[in-house]
Amino acid sequence: KHISIIGVPMDLGQSRRGVDMGPSAIRYAGVVERLEKLDFDIHDKGDIAIGRPSKNEVHSDGNLKFLKAVTEASEKLASVVDEVIEAGSFPLVFGGDHSIAIGSLAGISKHYKNLGVIWYDAHGDLNTAETSPSGNIHGMPLAVSLGIGHPDLTNIGGFAPKISPENIVIIGARSLDEGERELIRERGIKVYTMHEIDRLGMTKVIEEAITYLKDKTDGVHLSLDLDGLDPSDAPGVGTPVLGGISYRESHLAMEMLEESKLITSAEFVEVNPILDERNKTASVAVALMGSLFGEKLL
Ligand code: ARG
Ligand code: MN
Ligand code: MN
Ligand code: MN
Repeated sequence: KHISIIGVPMDLGQSRRGVDMGPSAIRYAGVVERLEKLDFDIHDKGDIAIGRPSKNEVHSDGNLKFLKAVTEASEKLASVVDEVIEAGSFPLVFGGDHSIAIGSLAGISKHYKNLGVIWYDAHGDLNTAETSPSGNIHGMPLAVSLGIGHPDLTNIGGFAPKISPENIVIIGARSLDEGERELIRERGIKVYTMHEIDRLGMTKVIEEAITYLKDKTDGVHLSLDLDGLDPSDAPGVGTPVLGGISYRESHLAMEMLEESKLITSAEFVEVNPILDERNKTASVAVALMGSLFGEKLL
């Protein structure tokens, strides 16, 4: 059992600095020691080098902030993730903001015919330059991976799309822009909003998600945005939304996913230590990784 950690100190996909320190915060919270206890061979590959755009560089390209820097980082991440899977290891990616999922999914999906994705998030991240209220690329990675968006982004790794709409399950949504809602309806994307989580309970939601993905996919990527959790449990995020998934429900979700043996790659994103309370959010991320990789209470 081998896990390769890849840090992506990227904060240009959104407007609040600090999320580039996410990988350090997660390491500081003891992730390597925690996973080694579970008998994994951990290989920390360190951080991807992220270019800093100069002050006078054009930062926004038609409502796409830092398009060039995000594109370059995505290409780099895609090739590192690709190598990791090639070597037979499990890629575990630490963000950075959620724009990094563009690179992760580009590298991963090369290896699967029918990759599934669990998008654990308060947001849909299904915007395009046309529908985005912010121009922040971290609100776009799921659309980009579906092949919808700027060609520089959709063609990372040299092919598109990376995933198909029927292989996606969004869990925890409670802040969706109008264009995102339209896309969800149009493409028939499976979404468990907070309404369904409250109504059905997390047990049923995860059981259904597993059943939905199990037979039609040959691998499932977990993309976990810490803002999927309630801000009281995960305060160190740039775009917090009230009424989120609890710490306990999240552990349950991770434990059930571990039992299903469905998850073949994962990323934990949007940890911003500057906005955090004594590294609480990074610690929550590490605790959830513990459950995802088989930590048991007894
Ligand atoms: N929907 C909003 C936007 O497009 C917020 C996106 C938040 N995304 C995230 N990965 N935290 O700007
Ligand atoms: Mn090794
Ligand atoms: Mn997100
Ligand atoms: Mn989010």
